[in-house]
Amino acid sequence: MAGLIPQHFIDELLSRADIVDVIDKRVKLRKTGKNYSALCPFHQEKSPSFSVEPDKQFYYCFGCGAGGNVLGFVMAYEQKDFPQAVETLAADYGLSVPRQESGEDTRRKQEHEELFAVMQRADHFYQQQLRQHAQRQQAVDYLKSRGLSGAIAKQYGIGFAPPGWDSLLTHLSAASITPELMIQCGLLIEKEDATADKRRYYDRFRDRIIFPIRDSRGRTIGFGGRVLGDDKPKYLNSPETPLYHKGQELYGLYEARKSRQKLTRFIIVEGYMDVVALAQHGIHYAVATLGTATNSTHLTRLFRQVSEVIYCFDGDEAGRKAAWRGLEATLPIMQDGRVVRFLFLPEGEDPDTLVRKIGKERFSEKIDHATSLEDFFFNHLCEQVDLHSMEGKARLVTLAQPLLQQLPDGVFRQLMYKRLAELSETEVAMGKAASRQNRVDAPQADPEQPAGKPLRPARSGSSIQRPASLKAIELLLSQPDVALEMDASLWQELQGIVPENDDSLVLLLELIELARNDPKITAYRLLGHCYGTPRGNQLNQLMKYEKITPAAGVKHEFSFLIESMLKTARNQLYRQQLIAQLKNRIK
Ligand code: UTP
Ligand code: MN
Repeated sequence: MAGLIPQHFIDELLSRADIVDVIDKRVKLRKTGKNYSALCPFHQEKSPSFSVEPDKQFYYCFGCGAGGNVLGFVMAYEQKDFPQAVETLAADYGLSVPRQESGEDTRRKQEHEELFAVMQRADHFYQQQLRQHAQRQQAVDYLKSRGLSGAIAKQYGIGFAPPGWDSLLTHLSAASITPELMIQCGLLIEKEDATADKRRYYDRFRDRIIFPIRDSRGRTIGFGGRVLGDDKPKYLNSPETPLYHKGQELYGLYEARKSRQKLTRFIIVEGYMDVVALAQHGIHYAVATLGTATNSTHLTRLFRQVSEVIYCFDGDEAGRKAAWRGLEATLPIMQDGRVVRFLFLPEGEDPDTLVRKIGKERFSEKIDHATSLEDFFFNHLCEQVDLHSMEGKARLVTLAQPLLQQLPDGVFRQLMYKRLAELSETEVAMGKAASRQNRVDAPQADPEQPAGKPLRPARSGSSIQRPASLKAIELLLSQPDVALEMDASLWQELQGIVPENDDSLVLLLELIELARNDPKITAYRLLGHCYGTPRGNQLNQLMKYEKITPAAGVKHEFSFLIESMLKTARNQLYRQQLIAQLKNRIK
C-alpha cells in the first residue's frame, strides 16, 4: 500500500503549479480582462461561463457551479482521486511524490514475515505433538470424547501443547528463534520476577488442546488453547500481537472457504468447539468471533462472500441481550440484498451439544427457520410497550425510530418503516438514511458533480442561511484540529443525536470521527476520504461559501456551534417527553 502524501509536498506543489497553465493544457483558455474564460468542460454550453482566476488560483463555472483549486480541477477533469491527481500534477512539474510511510511500510512487512514464520513453526510443532508426544493419548482421547475425527482435527489444524514450561521455547530456540520474537508472537510469557536467572520465560500454552486461528490467506496468526479437563481458565487465547487483532478475526472463516463446499450463508457461533463440531457434522459454514461481540468489520467480511448471515445465540436472557446488541451492530450494514437472521437455541444447549444431539438435517432446518431480523426487531420492541394504548404506540415509535434511522437507504428500510407505521397506527416520517457506510461502499464518482477544494474560497454571491451543522463543517475543514480539541464527553453526547432529516449533521459526525481518529488530519485528507461520494459532492458545494470567521476565531465558533446543536437536541428530547406525558394524561 502506498504511503500518505506529506502535506508539505502538497503545499509545495500548489505553490508551483499555476492553475492557468494546468487548465490551459487541457481546455483552451481565453484571456478576458484579469481572468480567463472557456467553454465549461463539465457541462454542455454554447457561450463560455467557465472562468479561471489567476489571483485566487481558482476556477469556477457560473453555469454548473463546478469550482475548485488546481488539484480539484485535475481530479474532476481527469476523474482521478486525490492521490492520483497529485501524481499527475507532480509529473507535469517534474516532481516525484514522496510517500511518508513507504520506508516504514516495508520494514513493517519484513517484521510481519518474520512473525508469520515463527507462528507457522509453532503451529507445526503443536500439531506434531498431537501425533508424537509421549502424553498425547490423553489429548487424543479428549478430542474423541468430543466426537471429533482425525480428519476434522487435521482440517482445523488442531494440536497439542505438551505439559511442561518450555517445550515450545526449547523447540523454537533450536531453530535459532529468539525469545523476543516468540514474545512478540504471544507465545511466551515473561516472568515477572525475572532476574539474571536464565529461565526468564515460559510457554503461554501448556497442556492444552490448541486451535490455530488463521487469517484469510490461511496463515496462522494466533492460538486458542483449551484445558483437557475442567480447570480454569477453560480457554487461553493469544494476546493482541502485530499479527493478531481479535476484534477483527473470525475463527473458521478460512476453513469454511477451504472446505470447497458451496458457501451461501454463514452462521456465527460463540466458541471454537462449536465451529469444529458443526463442521464435523457437515455444517461447514460456521464461524466464531473470538470472545468479542460481532462488529461491522466481521459482518462486512462475511457479506463479501455470502448474502445471508445467521446469528446463533443461547435462548436464555443473556443470549437475548447479546442478540439485541448484535442486531444493533447490524442495522447500519443492512443494504438491500443482505439477509440477517437469529437462531435461538434451547436452554442449556450450545451448537456443539445440539448438533451432536439432533444431527445435521434438523440443525440445518433450525437454521432455515431462524427468526428474521424484522421479526426479532419488532417482537423485541413490542414486548416493551403496551400496543393497546396510545402511549404504547407512541413509545414504540420513539424506541424504533433512532434504530431504523441507521438503516441504509433502500427497500428494506422502507419496509421496516412501513411496518412501524402499521404497528403504531401512525404516520411515521422516514428520515434520510444516517448510514455511515458511504466510505465503505462508496458509489462511483459522479462526473456531473466534480469535487475539489479551493485554497481560497470563491465569492459566493449569495448568503443563504445555513444550518449550524453546515457551518461547523466549514470550520472543521478550515481547521481540522478543532475536532481533536473537542471534549470527549461532548463528542459522546453529540454522537447520540439522531440526525433526523439532517444530512449535514450526519456528514459532520462522520468528519469529526475521521478527524479524531487521525491526529495528522488535514482538510485534504478529509476531502480525500469522501471524494466521489455524495458526501464529497456536498463538501464541494460547501467549499464555495465565503469564509467569514477569521482564523483565530474558528475554534471558539466551532465549540459554540456544537454547544448550540446539543442544546437544540436536548430541548427536542425534553419536548418529546412532555408530549408523551400529556398523551398519557389525556388517556
Ligand atoms: P464457552 O464457555 O461457551 O465455551 O465459550 P465452548 O466454546 O462451549 O467450550 P467447550 O464446549 O466447553 O469446549 C465460548 C468462547 O468464549 C471464549 C472462547 O473463544 C470460547 O470458544 N472463552 C471462553 C475464552 O476465551 N476463555 C474462557 O475461559 C472461556
Ligand atoms: Mn461448548
